Amino acid sequence: MELFTQMGIDRDDKDARDGFWARNYEFFGAPVELFLFTHKSLGKFAASDAGLFMQNLILSAHSKGLGTCAQGSVAVWEDAVRKEFQISKNYSLLCGICVGYPSQSQVNKFQANRISPSEIMLPEKNH
Ligand SMILES: Cc1cc2nc3c(=O)[nH]c(=O)nc-3n(C[C@H](O)[C@H](O)[C@H](O)COP(=O)(O)O)c2cc1C
Repeated sequence: MELFTQMGIDRDDKDARDGFWARNYEFFGAPVELFLFTHKSLGKFAASDAGLFMQNLILSAHSKGLGTCAQGSVAVWEDAVRKEFQISKNYSLLCGICVGYPSQSQVNKFQANRISPSEIMLPEKNH
């Protein structure tokens, strides 16, 4: 919601929201898209490993002046990705990551509001 507000997109403006989302499928104009697959047999363990891998890759790219955007939205279109590459059926598309040099676009000036650590801690049950 904060991002849409910064981009001047009204909550009720479905066309504008769809248009913004659609940019995922042109990888926001980035020259490189990475497709991250995990082995189906490894389930959540592979997802944890891949998450750590993604964070390291994203931070490493950032340290070299590159921008990235993790794209869960890309995993929805696994069939389209499979048409372009030879990928074993044992693997499943988890996420895309686009990589490029960040533009001066307004969207790249967005800074998400961070919640405090106490807000992500669950309270204990009263027995
Ligand atoms: C696993 C994962 C999937 C994401 N998928 C998308 C996506 O499909 N499209 C998108 O625009 N941003 C996506 N994001 C990026 C977030 O919207 C956000 O920009 C990014 O995590 C940077 O966080 P920050 O704005 O809190 O610094 C994803 C982030 C993560 C970690």
